[in-house]
Amino acid sequence: MKCTRCREPAEVKLRAHNSAFCRSCFVFFFQRRVARAVEHEKMFDRASRILVAVSGGKDSLALWEVLAEEGYTTVGFHLALGIGGYSSRSRERTEAFAAKRGLDLRVHALADEGLGIPDIVSATRRPACSACGTFKRHYFDAAALEFGCDVIATGHNLDDEAARLLGNVLHWQTDHLARQKPVMQPRHEKFVRKVKPLYLTSELETATYSFMRGIDYVVEECPNAAGASQLTYKAVLDRLEDTSPGTKVGFVRDFVVRGSAAFARDEEGDSARTCEGCGMPSFGALCSFCSLRAEVDRKLAARAKPAPTPSNA
Ligand code: AMP
Ligand code: FES
Ligand code: ZN
Repeated sequence: MKCTRCREPAEVKLRAHNSAFCRSCFVFFFQRRVARAVEHEKMFDRASRILVAVSGGKDSLALWEVLAEEGYTTVGFHLALGIGGYSSRSRERTEAFAAKRGLDLRVHALADEGLGIPDIVSATRRPACSACGTFKRHYFDAAALEFGCDVIATGHNLDDEAARLLGNVLHWQTDHLARQKPVMQPRHEKFVRKVKPLYLTSELETATYSFMRGIDYVVEECPNAAGASQLTYKAVLDRLEDTSPGTKVGFVRDFVVRGSAAFARDEEGDSARTCEGCGMPSFGALCSFCSLRAEVDRKLAARAKPAPTPSNA
């Protein structure tokens, strides 16, 4: 197998692109795909200050490295979720990555406030991923504001986007379909644009890039992800991809190019109010993050109350 670009022996075959690459040509191909997505979708430019949300996984670390090497101004942001060893290992890898490359990393640890994701789940009985999603959205938005960034970049890759698209289509979640884009414009002056530069880059490609570049990332999945329907959708898409390479990239790219406009009308509705708890934009008196925090406080307070004794019950 020869490299499609330079004819040297190839190290990786990408069936979806009908190509094979040697190490240096693959790195070139990967960086160019990210750069093209950024330019084509007008995600940001050289004047932008980009908050890169880094989890410690391969996608966001690879993204951060590419953007930093391309000369963009980046600030890494890691939210330490307090999910046991998984979170401590994620934080360690992220910090080691930033230190090795001299990159600017800011960390917010939920445990410092005495409230990690497991505490929220046990207090409210909400599914971990939904509570976690609310927290991530809030802290990413707040970090962009605090660190003066004008765009938030996440490492969502092609496999994430294809699985999400399949789930949204299967349940005809038209409001979610309207919001599934590589670039989400802010709907309030305190919010900034959110972009996914890896939306056409597969998990295989980010894993290969990370391996070739010696990025030490967290391989394990979040323990709460086991059994999530996203994983089933990913497995189904992998089977389709196996019999018909290029299925995922076609599914996501063609939805963005041809399909998403059909759902745009559902994107209406602004959050014009200011949250009384945190000052961020909200639909009601409290934003969804502050309502969740209030629910946790209420339930923990109720739990802490001594049970009535038989004599005064
Ligand atoms: P996930 O929702 O875990 O698939 O992650 C999607 C993207 O969100 C990652 O590629 C990161 O950019 C970002 N992200 C997830 N978890 C964290 C975290 N704990 N801290 C910072 N960014 C994160
Ligand atoms: Fe949020 Fe697993 S990363 S619950
Ligand atoms: Zn709030």
